[in-house]
Amino acid sequence: MGADVLAQKIIIDTDPGQDDAVAILLALASPAELDVLGIVAVAGNVSLEQNARNALKVIELAGRSDIPVYAGSVRPIRRHLVTAEHVHGETGLDGPDLPMPTTKLQAKHGVDYIVETLLAHDAGTITLCTLGPLTNIALALIKAPEIAPRIKEIVMMGGGYFEGGNITPVAEFNIYVDPDAADVVLRSGVPITMAPLDLTHTILSTPERLERIKAIGNKAGAAVHAMLSFSERFDLSKYGSRGAPLHDPCVIAYVLKPELFEGRHINVTIECASELTMGMTVADYWGVTGRSKNVTYLRSGDADGFYQLLTERLARLP
Ligand code: BDR
Ligand code: CA
Repeated sequence: MGADVLAQKIIIDTDPGQDDAVAILLALASPAELDVLGIVAVAGNVSLEQNARNALKVIELAGRSDIPVYAGSVRPIRRHLVTAEHVHGETGLDGPDLPMPTTKLQAKHGVDYIVETLLAHDAGTITLCTLGPLTNIALALIKAPEIAPRIKEIVMMGGGYFEGGNITPVAEFNIYVDPDAADVVLRSGVPITMAPLDLTHTILSTPERLERIKAIGNKAGAAVHAMLSFSERFDLSKYGSRGAPLHDPCVIAYVLKPELFEGRHINVTIECASELTMGMTVADYWGVTGRSKNVTYLRSGDADGFYQLLTERLARLP
């Protein structure tokens, strides 16, 4: 299943993570629209080594072991790595029984892969889809600033404002893990679309939606059902909602069908100094600062439309 010639080229930077895995599957199930050039792992939900192994497992589940997977940064730029085994389990991908991957990681460092790929393709043709801490993207921008104007867009899962945080009262996990990286990326001048908690907390994996995914009857549907049933146990008790938020697949769904989402072009600045509010995405939603607008901030989405898209696409996988 190769990509269509007219498909949007994307690189997925990720720390899989059950919701990252679902995002990768959604992308790989959409070859007419998305050409996944490569997947780069970053330290986040679990260690870099484990995240990279998980990425290999996911491409195998999708029957796409032709997709190159790279390992990127082993830790955040300045701070100690904070992980989330309490949500994702010891492997980061607890839930389904996925076999060990048969393919290997690429030898090249993930940051070099990002730089070289952007330089090798026409400017403005590659979108970076980021599903974890922004360490690799920031390091690529620092190493080779000339890539900034070549990036079509960065679509990221990260941040939260009206909804507060999920790892501290004010910080979302991906930004909290490497706030310095997020700061570099948000100041880069690259067009950015952010899928924050304000959006993802409305895209709930209710029992009915999960049942429809299981009812597809293929391996991918069974694995997604098992993954999300595992990871949601933490969120269900935390939020008391009927279904857990589904974060990272919103990034891919936005690239596939932006009309499912609504947002506003605003300034977002990252708190990198105060320990109390470290990693907060200070979103000037009402335009009170006069700071220049750097982010399209997605605040809401069509949850039914999203799950319809996800279910229909997962049905195309083995
Ligand atoms: C983000 O943190 C991770 O645990 C998830 O994979 C997602 O990218 C949500 O805050
Ligand atoms: Ca993630």
